[in-house]
Amino acid sequence: MDVIRIEGGHRVEGVVRVEGAKNSALKLMAATIMAPGVNTLTNVPNISDVHVMGKVLKRLGAQIDVLDEHTLRIDTSTVDSWETPYELVAQMRASTAVLGPLISRFGRATVAMPGGCNIGARKIDMHILGLQALGVEFDLDHGDINATAPHGLIGDTVTLDFASVGATENLMMASVHAKGVTVIDNAAREPEIVDLANLLNEMGAKVHGAGSPVIEIEGVDELHPVTHEVVGDRIEAGTFIATAGIVGTPIEVCGFEPSHLGLVLRKYEQMGITIERGERMVRVYRDKPLASVDIQTLPFPGFPTDMQAQTMCLLALGSESCVITENVFENRFMFASELQRMGADIRIEGHHAIVHGVKGFSGAAVKSPDLRGGAALVMAGLVADGTTVVSDIYHIDRGYERFVEKLQGLGAHVERVTVPDTPVI
Ligand code: EPZ
Repeated sequence: MDVIRIEGGHRVEGVVRVEGAKNSALKLMAATIMAPGVNTLTNVPNISDVHVMGKVLKRLGAQIDVLDEHTLRIDTSTVDSWETPYELVAQMRASTAVLGPLISRFGRATVAMPGGCNIGARKIDMHILGLQALGVEFDLDHGDINATAPHGLIGDTVTLDFASVGATENLMMASVHAKGVTVIDNAAREPEIVDLANLLNEMGAKVHGAGSPVIEIEGVDELHPVTHEVVGDRIEAGTFIATAGIVGTPIEVCGFEPSHLGLVLRKYEQMGITIERGERMVRVYRDKPLASVDIQTLPFPGFPTDMQAQTMCLLALGSESCVITENVFENRFMFASELQRMGADIRIEGHHAIVHGVKGFSGAAVKSPDLRGGAALVMAGLVADGTTVVSDIYHIDRGYERFVEKLQGLGAHVERVTVPDTPVI
């Protein structure tokens, strides 16, 4: 298996460019199902989740050409199936993003019920309830969700219990061809939602209010294929910004919109990190001790849960103590137990992590719990005393393109090595 080995204490600085957003690209790929013809997506990250979504689209009948590492030419005129098999949904639960597009195009869909993952149950009850309000009927058959719309989709108002990103996206896509107007209230407001709405409108849809809590979609008859650039990945950017915060030496992070990380940047400045904002870039460094601040994760524009582990890594070296509250996922503190192996002093109490700052980390063998926790463990290794070895790095490969190479480009002593699989005893 592959592991990432980090030798701590070396100077890390320079310029890094982030890719297109994983959490947008996957949904944009799914949305091409609704615009039969040749769609071209640029600034697509070359990561394993994108490869899996490509497999899903091909299984549905689409043809995909990789024009260069970051440009996909997706011809969905040949899509002739509405069934996504369990083995692909099991690999990546974001495959459920094809539910709305398939219902929109075919009036039906069969998607394997996604399982949970390390960070939580990842249910899709809000997706189902919302789609039922638009006239979709569901039955669960041996782990598959069979969705049909016998009377077509009729626009209605759907109020989400929680500002779910996935539910907002599926409802937005499913309602594109619905008769009349659909209103999604308490909608997710993430920048990736806005990117998807922009793509749909470029295809000829009429989506208004994306980025606000109320999104209105006026049904249209058909969509046409487009060329669209994926929005920059604010979470990959935030990961490198946190890296600059932990090493202290300056890192320039390019290729994203700083306003997409508003609260994160403001919290990091409160922690004593200097952030110089520019056009689609920031320059980050720290020349004072890390101050401890409380964090609570919430839907955008609140503090993103996808930045929780990276921020916990910073706060674990804070000058005092603080509390991190995880309000989005029910089990997203596994990173803490790995970081404790490196010397962090963190106590978990339900949805709260009480973090007491320590002077430093010591290198250790640790296991990546999910993609963000894995990246944060590598971050910790950069400043740890000695060598850190991170395993289960397939999590990292799901969401970070060339993570090791980018860190090497910043001077980090980090390498990807293949080691014999340790026998399970
Ligand atoms: C998206 O997941 C992202 N994934 C996640 O990023 C991100 O953490 C999350 O949004 C929140 O921002 C992709 O976009 C591929 P949700 P999603 O629906 O859509 C519960 C990463 O690290 N819920 O907003 O699944 C759910 O279990 C990943 O890049 C229901 O209970 O997130 C979770 O606790 C991790 N029922 C909470 O709501 C539902 O029907 C938020 O989920 C839907 C969600």
